Amino acid sequence: MYRSHNCGELRAADINKEVTLAGWVQKSRDKGFMIWVDLRDRYGITQLIFDEARTDENMMQRARSLGREYVVQIKGTVIERESKNLNIPTGEIEVLVNELTILNEAQLPPFTIEDETDGGEDLRMKYRYLDIRRNPVKNSLLFRHKVTQEVRNYLSNLDFCEVETPYLIKSTPEGARDFVVPSRMNPGQFYALPQSPQTFKQLLMVGGLDRYFQIVKCFRDEDLRADRQPEFTQIDCEMSFIEQEDILKVFEGLTRHLLKTIHNIDITQFPRITYDEAMAKYGNDKPDIRFGMEFGELNAAAQHKDFSVFNHAELVVGIAVPDAASYTRKQIDALIDWVKRPQVGASGMVYCKCELDGTFKSSVDKFYDQADLAKWAEVTGAKAGDLILILSGPANKTRAQLSALRMELANRLGLRQPNEFAPLWVMDFPLLEWDDETGRYHAMHHPFTSPKKEDIHLLDSEPGKVRANAYDLVLNGNEIGGGSIRIHDKETQALMFKHLGFTTAEAQEQFGFLMNAFQYGAPPHGGLAFGLDRLVAILGGQETIRDFIAFPKNNAGRDVMIDAPATIDNAQLDELSLVLNIKG
Ligand code: AMO
Repeated sequence: MYRSHNCGELRAADINKEVTLAGWVQKSRDKGFMIWVDLRDRYGITQLIFDEARTDENMMQRARSLGREYVVQIKGTVIERESKNLNIPTGEIEVLVNELTILNEAQLPPFTIEDETDGGEDLRMKYRYLDIRRNPVKNSLLFRHKVTQEVRNYLSNLDFCEVETPYLIKSTPEGARDFVVPSRMNPGQFYALPQSPQTFKQLLMVGGLDRYFQIVKCFRDEDLRADRQPEFTQIDCEMSFIEQEDILKVFEGLTRHLLKTIHNIDITQFPRITYDEAMAKYGNDKPDIRFGMEFGELNAAAQHKDFSVFNHAELVVGIAVPDAASYTRKQIDALIDWVKRPQVGASGMVYCKCELDGTFKSSVDKFYDQADLAKWAEVTGAKAGDLILILSGPANKTRAQLSALRMELANRLGLRQPNEFAPLWVMDFPLLEWDDETGRYHAMHHPFTSPKKEDIHLLDSEPGKVRANAYDLVLNGNEIGGGSIRIHDKETQALMFKHLGFTTAEAQEQFGFLMNAFQYGAPPHGGLAFGLDRLVAILGGQETIRDFIAFPKNNAGRDVMIDAPATIDNAQLDELSLVLNIKG
């Protein structure tokens, strides 16, 4: 038996017990006649004591030789501590060691294994197994496990059946680039790793499984950000014989269940807004609704004077920053510089202070009188003491810029509290999205998403206006999940492919297996997928998913610990019938 107890377990009630513990040496303090060692494992830290008066000289010597992160096993007696540490659960006791076995020596770790470490990001990633010994990382992994388990409980209780779908498949149409795997047995041919199990889950519905879920790895070769990894995990679901409302209910229920079981929070509101509304009010399809600062469109209230910047703009739009009328010229200039940074890209910004005495002071007083400015305050919802910030230009760009500013200000003003949760459904996404690069429309979600019946007639005339039965779940300004009701009849699918620019032959070649399956009685179906990494991170009060993934990739898509990706040798290339032709 390696241990009778773990290192987080012993309390005052255990005093006088003979125990066996095993773990890592966190640190030791040598006072000459007494040595204290903090022994750590996943469960906590227990203080060991070696006392010259009660411990033989040989063991004192060996205790003295213990370095940081040595792996040891001890036997000893639980005794009351003289100076108690009430900050840790085991702080009332210590273990007087009477047997010490060094199970393994350890090199000095390259950074301190403490909650606040001296190790930088790169170093910690290279030695991720040491990083995992630290509480913040370890706790994030335990937290992820808890969330995952609750997801499984909830869905299994609702008769969802977990099915594994293959990883070596043909390209899936989710819009990112595929990671591909060469086939040795089929020279010149490649598998693609799934960007999601989308087509398979639809085939499971044709197979009559009715309710499917899978906690599944997905692979997308796209540019990385704090909330994106090349391999990430989805809670992927699909249901048959349902309407959109049924899906929203189930996953609203899942979100409520998680917030209740993880944080003991009862969500009182679960609003729904349309995509168009989200764009108009927040300039963003994943708005953070924990705070206001909703957009006020000012075209009507600002394009009637001689201010040509506004008069020439497609959109003039502003937000009211609460209690910011007292900002100094310097503070406002800094905000103007912030929106002019290339990452945001605004060409300038107009402001209007709503003074406490009810008057207005703007940067464009030359052009606008107090009545005009009062109108701006009304449209943006500004009250006395607020600061109105206004951007103008092409509608989509300007909305995106103001949205970035809104989020930045909310961060600065502390309006994005990580322990406050505001979920939201964004509904009725556009079916198609224009792509400048290819000069044609693409499916915004994927080609199996059904158009709204009442919009189908617009497919020929105004394809950009057709709305889809597609929805996203947004939590605290992050897209947590997305899904849709699928097309399950041949005619609509053919129409969709036509509008996406696929010839019948191309559609058959890429999606023939699915279209064939649909000829054998496909039930009406739909589903959605949550991004598990994002969900866990946000529930954990953070937005960087890397911290909740055991072995993440860095921003260049590299695993710096195992040093991947890497070259392979010529013999392996030969076997795969591959010849490298690296350009550049
Ligand atoms: P979608 O592409 O919206 O839908 O993906 C679902 C959710 O997965 C998460 N996600 C990511 N998380 C981390 N890193 C990434 N690179 C990444 N990409 C996506 C997001 C997103 O909301 N098959 C459809 C679902 C369906 O229609 O049922 C799909 O994959 O949180």
